[in-house]
Amino acid sequence: MFNSKIAGIGHYVPERVVTNDELSQYMDTSDEWIKERTGIEERRFAEKHEETSSTMGAKAARIAIERAGITPQDVDFIIFATLSADYYFPGGGVLMQRELGITDQEVGALDIRNQCSGFLYGLSVADQFVKTGMYKNVLLVGAEMHSMGLDFSTKGRGVSVIFGDGAGAVVLQPTEDNTQGVLTTKLHSNGTHAEELAMINPGSHGGYHLGKEKFGYPEDPTFKSIFVTQKMIDDDLIYPNMTGQLVFKTAVVKFPEVIKEALDSCGLQSSDIDMLVPHQANLRIAQFVQKRLGLSDDQVFNNIQKYGNTTAASVPIALCEAWESGKVKEGDLVCLAAFGSGFTWGSALIRW
Ligand code: COA
Repeated sequence: MFNSKIAGIGHYVPERVVTNDELSQYMDTSDEWIKERTGIEERRFAEKHEETSSTMGAKAARIAIERAGITPQDVDFIIFATLSADYYFPGGGVLMQRELGITDQEVGALDIRNQCSGFLYGLSVADQFVKTGMYKNVLLVGAEMHSMGLDFSTKGRGVSVIFGDGAGAVVLQPTEDNTQGVLTTKLHSNGTHAEELAMINPGSHGGYHLGKEKFGYPEDPTFKSIFVTQKMIDDDLIYPNMTGQLVFKTAVVKFPEVIKEALDSCGLQSSDIDMLVPHQANLRIAQFVQKRLGLSDDQVFNNIQKYGNTTAASVPIALCEAWESGKVKEGDLVCLAAFGSGFTWGSALIRW
């Protein structure tokens, strides 16, 4: 058995900076409200019709691949995590493969849809493949293009001010040094509150979970396409919804819990963590987790102020910036953790 190590890391964020003040031109919100509740000062929005989650993923991937000292042709497995895929199907993995110009290799591409914890789930899957020696260069990407699917009217302000676009990527390779690389990953889920942080439509539910009337399903849907109904469009039921306080309350419990689980399984303590890179959901959540674990400011990396919540991309973007700025160094114990829609959550410990 090998350990898997992050051999290369990269990230990409679109050029367009969208400030809180700009958002307040489209909806009833303010820089003060957003900063106070979330810590977010600005986010990036991709160029509509020109960029997608898979093209942004490819840009981040190229950097990670180069830094790993390989070429795109050397990638032997692709894992792509997003909730904002270019198409409903197929997933973004094959589109990114095409964008990278490596279709000739015909390597496997796995799509992960675990939202904010997508990168952690992907890391765990990649780790298992690398550990067993099955693959030698796994490309793992988290990418999101939220700006295409948010409600920028006042009705959607509780959700739309939080999210931003971007992508992060890593290449995982085997190492025979079993003190290095990914030491453990822990994954969890609980579907009880699936709809409390969700984009329900379009979908194949047909009203099963929440009632046919709510979504405007016809009485006799035989041979009629009911994937999207007019009522969904008219009533703005095609946007993500979130019960913010429930998400907040659950996140501040699950983050420390899953981090401690990882530490315990390796015989480590929170004081051993050199850098915690939490999913950038909300600065207040990260600060709460930091306090709960007794970590100092220089043991936690946050960049939500600049990018908002980029969901599956947030952990690799933050990890990449932490590494680029010298805050993650060889030999450091790095802890990654995420919580989000599902609810799903997870953690990882990496000896850098
Ligand atoms: N600007 C101004 N006012 C806003 C607003 C915005 N962008 N969004 C909501 N409000 C208003 C609400 O309408 C409400 O007004 P009311 O009291 O007149 O009804 C008021 O602010 C309080 O809303 P509430 O939803 O209770 O605020 P909150 O303190 O819970 O903060 C979140 C909202 C979303 C910032 C917070 O719940 C949160 O961060 N939750 C976790 C979200 C998260 O991390 N999601 C990603 C998970 S991966």
